[in-house]
Amino acid sequence: MLKIKLFNSKHPIEHQELEISDHRLKGDGCSIGSSPACGLVLPSMKVQEIHGKLFIDNGQYYFRDMTKVGHSQVNDEEITLEHPYSLETDDIIRIGEFVLIIDGLPLKGKSKYSKSKSRRKNADSRQTSNQRPRKSLQAMKSLALKNRRSSSTTSENPKTSLNKETSVSVNTPSATVSQIITPIAVSSSPIPKVDTPTVLETPPLDGINWWTKGDLTVRCLSVIEETQDVKTFRFVGTSPVLFNYKPGQFVTLKLNIVGKTIKRAYSISSTPSRPHTLEITVKRVPPPSDVPDAPPGLVSNWLHDNISVGSEISLSGPSGKFTCVDNNHPKLLFISAGSGITPMMSMSRWALDTGAQRDIIFFHSARSPQDIIFRRELEVMTAQHPNFHLALTMTRASLGEPWWGFTGRLTDKLLEIIAPDFQERMIYVCGPDTFMKGVKTLVEGMGFPMVNYHQESFGGSKKASSTPTASTTVLTPPTSVKTTPVSPGVPKSSNETHTVVFAQSKKEVKINANTSILETAEEAMIEVNSSCRSGGCGTCKIKKLEGEIRYEGEPDGLDPSERNQGYILGCIAYPTGRVIIDI
Ligand code: FES
Repeated sequence: MLKIKLFNSKHPIEHQELEISDHRLKGDGCSIGSSPACGLVLPSMKVQEIHGKLFIDNGQYYFRDMTKVGHSQVNDEEITLEHPYSLETDDIIRIGEFVLIIDGLPLKGKSKYSKSKSRRKNADSRQTSNQRPRKSLQAMKSLALKNRRSSSTTSENPKTSLNKETSVSVNTPSATVSQIITPIAVSSSPIPKVDTPTVLETPPLDGINWWTKGDLTVRCLSVIEETQDVKTFRFVGTSPVLFNYKPGQFVTLKLNIVGKTIKRAYSISSTPSRPHTLEITVKRVPPPSDVPDAPPGLVSNWLHDNISVGSEISLSGPSGKFTCVDNNHPKLLFISAGSGITPMMSMSRWALDTGAQRDIIFFHSARSPQDIIFRRELEVMTAQHPNFHLALTMTRASLGEPWWGFTGRLTDKLLEIIAPDFQERMIYVCGPDTFMKGVKTLVEGMGFPMVNYHQESFGGSKKASSTPTASTTVLTPPTSVKTTPVSPGVPKSSNETHTVVFAQSKKEVKINANTSILETAEEAMIEVNSSCRSGGCGTCKIKKLEGEIRYEGEPDGLDPSERNQGYILGCIAYPTGRVIIDI
């Protein structure tokens, strides 16, 4: 167990005591930075998104600077990325205006890191500069002690405690950011104990709980008409709640529409840096122009027609890995079309709210100027933030409104104009399937390193491209039920065929190796709920009785207990042999 006293040097009379379990420090360790994704969040303009990390190796505790330019100090000595610092009790780590005093560690032993030249230098110089850190430590400790004594005389006055917490939040980059960082900001006595200091396991704030995962009932607070066919629905919890998620993630709505429960995934368009509300932005979906008799977008249109201020709905999540929070790449290129703008807006709002040191090029394609979602806000963001660059293109001639921006679809020439340095950027793409395929083909063809390419894949049905050969037969019930492990596997030849047996439906279907089990069920007219179709929401969860599958993607929508019970996600599960499913 690593114990830390966390001070903000601007408010040294207040501090927080943290405890980080050894389990948390193993492997990748506990990251420290201004990003809400870090294990220990230090909200400050002076702290980089991922500034450093604490970890344990061979029983020894270490601090490593992750900034590549040595922005952290231990005992007043600069720490480098290459040489982690072996920690002992009373070591003082300085990150921005924050001071972390290490406590509760056993005596330091030999380690592979401490043999390095740099590490010896650190150790040597610590002996010669012993007085300075100890002096700092004593000063911090005496201030903390003084605070404990003084606060013990005022602890019966909750208003005093609340005021102190409010005053601490003034140290944050912006008023809105202060809302989310308050839980880790230093506070007065009684000193809170935090087992795992993480944004996702934040303690209650003034009695308000954080929603970090799971089902929640929310109430519509307002409906904002973004364009003629796009609305933003702003929700609050039916009980007071603060929303915590990563910008770019999605939620799954659970709706009762004409007597049926229907789940549908929507990207969150709001930002976790404004945690009191959660927003989704939804486009009304007409029937396809080439198939006017096809049904219009059931759920999106239902939301437009039925959700108003005061309406209550259920949702679950957050889910998804489409977020720029998980990397600290300094240059981002967001490319979106239509309502694919929503996760980009969430990430942009977050980056600008938190002062994240990112240079963002925001490219968006709309049909006409009237169809640009969030247009005014995007223009304000561009005017106020020199690191935010907006480029808009219209794909149809504008009617009635002049347009001096780009026109037409994204091409290699247009890409070179809006982002001449696109090869150096991390690219995020979201929009209709055809748009995303086009962008991917374009940048791939221009030699872009695809390891830096991300797209939001709300996978539509692949029926058009898959060629399942269905032959349905009546079955006798399986004589034995056995759960077999999931095989990660690799994509197989599309010529290979496998058999999927739907036990309850008494149907047996032969399919090729590139057809998911969800698609197979749909081919066989067996009803399976689905939403994101990309493994993130868990809606298509079904139980596998026998056989092996491989996943294309990560089954994030399943928790470990569900996996142990044999559940799989049909949308990303592909049979690798004969498989029996319990539907
Ligand atoms: S539909 Fe969301 S996990 Fe399968």
